[in-house]
Amino acid sequence: MLVLVVASEIATEVFAEATLLLAKGDAQCRDRTCDPRVSWDDIYYRKAKEEGYRARSAFKLLQIDIEYNIFEGVKRVVDLCAAPGSWSQVLRNRILLPNRDDPEIKIVSVDIQDMAPLEGVITIKGDITKLSTAEEITHHFAGKHADLVVSDGAPDVTGLHDVDLYNQSQLILAGLNVTTHILRPGGTFVAKIFKGRDMSLLYSQLKIFFESVIMVKPKSSRNSSLVTLESFVVCQNYIPPNEYTPTMIHPMSMQHYTEETLMTGSNSIIVPFMACGDLNGYANSRLK
Ligand SMILES: C[S@@+](CC[C@H](N)C(=O)[O-])C[C@H]1O[C@@H](n2cnc3c(N)ncnc32)[C@H](O)[C@@H]1O
Repeated sequence: MLVLVVASEIATEVFAEATLLLAKGDAQCRDRTCDPRVSWDDIYYRKAKEEGYRARSAFKLLQIDIEYNIFEGVKRVVDLCAAPGSWSQVLRNRILLPNRDDPEIKIVSVDIQDMAPLEGVITIKGDITKLSTAEEITHHFAGKHADLVVSDGAPDVTGLHDVDLYNQSQLILAGLNVTTHILRPGGTFVAKIFKGRDMSLLYSQLKIFFESVIMVKPKSSRNSSLVTLESFVVCQNYIPPNEYTPTMIHPMSMQHYTEETLMTGSNSIIVPFMACGDLNGYANSRLK
């Protein structure tokens, strides 16, 4: 009897939570963390809830850091496409909280949607394809540049595979464009990409600006349906070309190209690929 009562209470709780999530909609849950379709046995989803992260995406950034030490020595950081804010929470926990007294530390988070405030983090509502957004970010750094820019941007998914890949590549180029306004030489840029046939073009474009560009797939990045192709690029040591002047005139770049202009031969570069993060180590103290 007791077992039945407890089971019914648990079922009621689960149902209430699912109803709440449904009611919330997915306005700020593009990575489906708040999506009721997300599996209840998803270990990262549960761990995100336990640790108070707004989305399971937090673990992607943590796993990238384990492999690439991207937070080392970072004082000024920009989180592009930040809502609902789990990456900003990671940045706050790892960069701001251990150095609370350092006035140089600044985290600026940007999203086209509203984002719930996060103590110690400056939030900007803005479109990363707009010059005004780049200017607002630099204004907060009072003329100084960022050490790290991260971007987990995802456009609205149409369901049309090619269109979705194209939109994602345009968003990463917009992110790169903003980054060239705000990143210091030697800095790091981490961005979400969807693997597709234009990968080597994207890689070549990133290599113009960074000494090292590696594609990574954190274990917490799901291998299911819409996000199957999700990976991240870790671009280190920002070295813009000598003559380069940041501009937002064509923030989406790649205006026109056709089958004829696709790269072939040695120009079609094979991107170094690295898996990182390990479920065995998800409770590892390094994730905390
Ligand atoms: C997967 S979510 C980011 C999740 C976030 N990293 C986290 O950990 O909570 C993708 C975000 O990209 C934002 N986005 C898409 N296009 C944008 C644009 N042009 N400018 C700013 N944000 C954009 C969406 O509003 C959405 O919140």
